[in-house]
Amino acid sequence: MPARGFKPDVGWYKPVGLLINPSNEKDWQMTLAQHSTSNDVIQLLEAQHLEIKRLFAAALDSRAEERERAFFELRRLLAVHESAEEELIHPQARSMLSDGSAIVDERLDEEQSAKQMLTELEDLSVDSVEFTTKLSALRDAVVEHAEHEEHDEFNVLRAEFPQADAERLANAVALAESIAPTRPHPDVNTPSENILIGPFAAMLDRARDAINGPSRQT
Ligand SMILES: [Fe+2]
Ligand SMILES: [Fe+2]
Repeated sequence: MPARGFKPDVGWYKPVGLLINPSNEKDWQMTLAQHSTSNDVIQLLEAQHLEIKRLFAAALDSRAEERERAFFELRRLLAVHESAEEELIHPQARSMLSDGSAIVDERLDEEQSAKQMLTELEDLSVDSVEFTTKLSALRDAVVEHAEHEEHDEFNVLRAEFPQADAERLANAVALAESIAPTRPHPDVNTPSENILIGPFAAMLDRARDAINGPSRQT
């Protein structure tokens, strides 16, 4: 539970990139037409790895409300990013790589461990020594996890991803582009932003629903 002083006002966050509304079927179809190749998705996930590292640095280098804000943005991006990988990337890697099951099982274990650490962090004061220590450990683990993904999975999937899954890939791209990177903005408030508030576990559930398509959103 985000028990600290920072109250995320979802209206502050303006999506950068494609300005789409995932609850609007026309926007989803437009996005599908624009982003239907595996390379789009892999490039986006790699860009998100860089943004995740930037947000870890921003959180670790700041204090108080500024740290709350960076930690909030980090959790939102991790919720979308890890959900997209779990729904779309890891299943393909499991079936396409010669030792895919072993590789993916290791990545899933790492993602589970990161989720647990994030849940523990949500119960700590951001200005406590314990928070800083735990966030540093999480950053190290997530960076190593991302390097494994890029080396073992992305490099293969970039060339061989089945186009039959293009629609689900496009949904993931649309969702990710609609929320990340986030920038403060006083006038914008879209449904895509409203789905990613609350505890990290709830963010994950909503991200997963959104990735699987607008018809399954509640
Ligand atoms: Fe991952
Ligand atoms: Fe990743």
